[in-house]
Amino acid sequence: MQTAPDYNNPKLILETADLEPSHVVWRSPSNLAIVKYWGKHGNQLPRNPSLSLTLETAFTMTRLDYKAKESADTNIDLQLFFHDERNEAFEERVKKYFSGLTDIFPFLRQISMSINTVNSFPHSSGIASSASAMSALALCLCSLEHELFNTLEDDAAFDQKASYIARLGSGSASRSIFPGMSVWGQTSEVEGSSDYFAVPFEDKVHANFKGMRDDILIVHSGTKSVSSSAGHSLMEANPFAEPRYQQANRNMMNLVSAVQKGDWETFGKIAEQEALTLHALMMSSSNGYLLMKPNSIKIMEMVREYRKETGHQVYFSLDAGPNVHLLYPEEIIHEVRSFVEDQLAPLCEERYYIEDYMGEGPVQQ
Ligand code: PMV
Repeated sequence: MQTAPDYNNPKLILETADLEPSHVVWRSPSNLAIVKYWGKHGNQLPRNPSLSLTLETAFTMTRLDYKAKESADTNIDLQLFFHDERNEAFEERVKKYFSGLTDIFPFLRQISMSINTVNSFPHSSGIASSASAMSALALCLCSLEHELFNTLEDDAAFDQKASYIARLGSGSASRSIFPGMSVWGQTSEVEGSSDYFAVPFEDKVHANFKGMRDDILIVHSGTKSVSSSAGHSLMEANPFAEPRYQQANRNMMNLVSAVQKGDWETFGKIAEQEALTLHALMMSSSNGYLLMKPNSIKIMEMVREYRKETGHQVYFSLDAGPNVHLLYPEEIIHEVRSFVEDQLAPLCEERYYIEDYMGEGPVQQ
């Protein structure tokens, strides 16, 4: 059994009279899981370990302005603006999230906050934005703690806490804290791995994977019909849940070794199997549902055909949605780009795709 880190800290209380209004700003990327997290228990704990690619161009930029509260009430006081417009649905979600964090950051009860958040990708591009949005918020909160109390000087301690906090907002967000690749969930394959926070994996990544490309082909934009949290809970009654968790553990073992050895073929095989399994689990839940679209399937078939014809290491992955991620080595970008432009872009909404790649991780602005 692992022990949970105890981040509760009743000492983080402000002498509010001294507080100068100020702000913190973080840019944090999205990530794509290669071995997927699907199924959770307890307070945002994963049923199986996952490994992800940190992206670069798909990010959220979040600015948190704060000042001392004028009243003595202890509710969370915040307003949230998404692309300059007040967004009450997101505001409610963040209020609830912050209310759950007041034992860790008791000073949140003492300040008024205004949060401005923007995504680099268009609003309804169909990109799951919770990983970038929640990690950006978690990073802002840890920076805020450090600015106010000077408590998080050590970078590794800062990152671990940010990942723990991000996880409480959205499980996948825990992995966005680290550059390159990251692992969340305890596995004997990765020393120091934990269900409570993600750990960096970049220094284990073989040179063959450095600069890996991820073209995100937008087959269909707009919000999905079933949220990820509903999807996670449907796993509880899914008849394939247990064998799935065993498969994920096996895939983690093989993926960790493939990433260290530079073995693209094993990496790609696992990426594709995981993507198809994720959607198979959705389909086999009670009231099974489909998030793929006909063009998602066409693209996946064309990628496999292209790989067979050319021998190029090009593989697909999917998130919980219809858009297809195309993973390939940086060296073949010119060949693959022609394939995308000529054959795949016509299957995307308004020929739209995002050119992303293995990223450097979050940046404080
Ligand atoms: O972080 P959540 O609760 O939105 O779940 C995300 C789950 C997947 O994106 C489908 C897989 C993953 O590991 O990121």
